[in-house]
Amino acid sequence: MQENNASSRSTAAVIDDVAQIMKIRARGERPMAFVHSYGCQQNVADGEKIKGFLEEMGFGFTQEQEEADFILFNTCAVREHAEDRVFGNVGALKNIKRRHPSVVIALCGCMMEQEHVAERIRKSYPYVSLVFGTHVIHRFPELLLETLTGGRRVFSRGDESEDKVIREGLPIHRDGSVKAWVTVMYGCNNFCSYCIVPYVRGRERSRSPEAIEEEFASLVRAGYRDITLLGQNVNSYGKTLETPVSFSELLRRLDRIPGDYRIRFMTSHPKDATRELIDTIAQGTHISHHLHLPFQSGNDRVLREMNRRYDRAKYLELIRYAKEKISDLSLTSDVIVGFPGETYEEFLDTVSLIREVEFTSLFTFIYSPRRGTKAAAMDDPVPAEEKTRWFQELCAVQEEIAARRCQSAVGTVQRVLVEEEGKREGLLSGRTDGNVIVDFPGPASLIGRFADVRVTAARNWILTGELVSPA
Ligand code: SAH
Ligand code: SF4
Ligand code: F3S
Repeated sequence: MQENNASSRSTAAVIDDVAQIMKIRARGERPMAFVHSYGCQQNVADGEKIKGFLEEMGFGFTQEQEEADFILFNTCAVREHAEDRVFGNVGALKNIKRRHPSVVIALCGCMMEQEHVAERIRKSYPYVSLVFGTHVIHRFPELLLETLTGGRRVFSRGDESEDKVIREGLPIHRDGSVKAWVTVMYGCNNFCSYCIVPYVRGRERSRSPEAIEEEFASLVRAGYRDITLLGQNVNSYGKTLETPVSFSELLRRLDRIPGDYRIRFMTSHPKDATRELIDTIAQGTHISHHLHLPFQSGNDRVLREMNRRYDRAKYLELIRYAKEKISDLSLTSDVIVGFPGETYEEFLDTVSLIREVEFTSLFTFIYSPRRGTKAAAMDDPVPAEEKTRWFQELCAVQEEIAARRCQSAVGTVQRVLVEEEGKREGLLSGRTDGNVIVDFPGPASLIGRFADVRVTAARNWILTGELVSPA
């Protein structure tokens, strides 16, 4: 079901009310907001929607919590470390609230969909006045108005019915002018046994291809050059639409939009990634030769326990096909070390898979138990120090591979999208099609444009080079 913000007139009125109140409450000339998103790009994209609302309410944005009238943390629940960081940072806001009692402190995002977290905020963080989950972002204006006028703290999480609805037409304040995100689907149905995401983001639902095309085309017209399609499992895009559309079909439709840009997408799930997807990348005009395909473990027993629903052979077969069709394909992946019950021998299967595939880069994680997931109830006899040793062993192998791959790029000419000025003066920084960073000397006028760069040296994961064209 799609819903085109039917109540947009009343939302506009609510936004107006908040704007009036905040104008008076603001300590400076206009109200200022500090918004920080933790976690994945999906969360960042949600944060941009909330910032869209805030902008309509007359807010400016600041990186300084001290000067903010409204502070929002958009949280991530995927690992314990992510949650700890949020609690630490929320704890530190106590002093800001003491110095500036009028500041409104709010929390949203995946963590807030968990009852025990909301409970802890309720009890131990009384200066947090607004808490809302991922399902009710479209209701942010009314929730903020209620916080400002209701005289009590507001806690809101959507019910099951919110799961089926996709709200189109929300305002978006995009943080960049070169790279942009387009959410193509929400939620996840996979229930990998370690993962909290399906519990905090609800069931899979896809936006209509028309709505995606419209947003995508408007980004291309506005000059965005690197557009990433987002979903927890983009390969199952479109399955629940009235007229199903495959993800490959969606990619082909977007690729037909004329312009000078690059399409990326994440995340792909190996159980749903197909040869058709690989062929689509190979034949595309704008589709990056970059595939992020998390394998999590190289051992079949562990993969079964993780409920991943593919095995090592299927994964490697797809990789072989992809490398054959796309010779310059850049592969990246996510890995979990120390899943409950994993033995050192099983872990070594992960190491051997990494050696076999030769990823450009990896996101490596030590398993973190998440309350309510199946894996959290499994026996986990390996001590943390042991897991840390395995983790370091894996990182060392990957570093060696990444360094070798970077070295082999020396001498090649790469098409680089120039994103910003580099860390050192006179340098520009950009990314190759395979998502590798390249620094090179050049004029700032190239920012936001594509340039051909000859790679002259490789240092760790960063390449340096010289401009070939436009010279
Ligand atoms: N939907 C994506 C990514 C979701 S979360 C996918 O399926 O690939 C990003 C990554 O975090 C996962 O790929 C996994 O490697 C890691 N992750 C998720 N839950 C975790 C946990 N409980 N402990 C450690 N890492 C975890
Ligand atoms: Fe989590 Fe698995 Fe869904 Fe990815 S596919 S979000 S790892 S449950
Ligand atoms: Fe974290 Fe939620 Fe993304 S749990 S990884 S922010 S979907």
